[in-house]
Amino acid sequence: MNDSISRAANLIASSKHLVAFTGAGISAESGIPTFRGPGGIWDKYDPVVLDIDYFIHHYEQVWPVIKDMFYTVIDRAQPNPAHYTLARWEKEGLLKAIITQNIDNLHQKAGSRNVIEYHGNTRQAVCLDCGRTVPLTKEILAQDVPRCPHCGGRLKPDFVFFGEPIPAEAAQKSLEHTLKSDIYLVIGTTGIIMPASLLPYEAKKNGATIIEINLNPSEYTGRITDIFLQGKAGEILPALDTEIRRIQ
Ligand code: APR
Repeated sequence: MNDSISRAANLIASSKHLVAFTGAGISAESGIPTFRGPGGIWDKYDPVVLDIDYFIHHYEQVWPVIKDMFYTVIDRAQPNPAHYTLARWEKEGLLKAIITQNIDNLHQKAGSRNVIEYHGNTRQAVCLDCGRTVPLTKEILAQDVPRCPHCGGRLKPDFVFFGEPIPAEAAQKSLEHTLKSDIYLVIGTTGIIMPASLLPYEAKKNGATIIEINLNPSEYTGRITDIFLQGKAGEILPALDTEIRRIQ
C-alpha cells in the first residue's frame, strides 16, 4: 500500500487539474450511513420514498421518513479528516473542484468552496405550490409535515429524487471539470447510480488517471481505476497529504 500511496501522492502533487468525485463513503466516518453495504439506508428504507411521483402523492407519509433518513443524522454530523484534507488541498490551489453525490453539506462544513452538488442539497426546499425556494430551518423541520411558510403548500427538499433531472448547472460544471481533469480522485462510491456514476468513465476516456479510495472494490476498480487505495477515506486522504508534504 505504501508504494501505491507514494505513486498516488506524486501524481496528485504534480497534477494540473485535480478533481475529487465523492460518494457516501467519504461521510461514513462522520456517522452518516451509506446507501448500500452493511447497515445501509436501503436496508432500512424502501427507495420508493425518494421517487418523485410517490413523494408528491404520499406527501404526509413520506416527510417523516425523509426526516428520519437524512435530516436528523445530517444535523449532528461533522466533517471527518477526509473532508478536511480535500478542503485544505483546495485552499492550497491543488484541488480544483469537488463533485459530490452527497447531500450532507459536510464538504462545505469542512471549508471547501468549489463543491458541485450533483444530487442537490438538504439546506433548502422548493414549494410545489407557490414555487418559492425556502431555507429548511429548524422551525420548518420541527413540523411533523413541513409546510411552506409563505403559502402553506407542499415543500420538496432541494435534493434530486429518483425520476428528477440533475440540476443543469451542476451537470454542466461537473462535465467541464471532469473533461479538464488529469488526475481524478474517486472516493467512497459504488459507482452504480447514473448519470453521476458515468463521470469517472468520462474522465478516463479523456485521458485522466483514476485514483480510487474505497473500503471495498467498486464498479470502477476492475475497469478504469489506475491506483486503488483500499481503506477508509478518513485515513487514506491524510496519509496522502503527509506523503505530498514529504516529497514537496
Ligand atoms: N471510506 C471509503 N469508502 C467507504 C467507507 C469509508 N470509510 N465506508 C464505505 N465506503 C464505500 C463503500 O465500500 C461503497 O463503495 O462507500 C461506498 C458507498 O456506496 P453507496 O452507499 O452506494 O453510496 P454512493 O455510491 O454515494 O451512492 C450513490 O445512490 O441512492 C443513491 O442518491 C444516492 O447519491 C447516492 C447514490
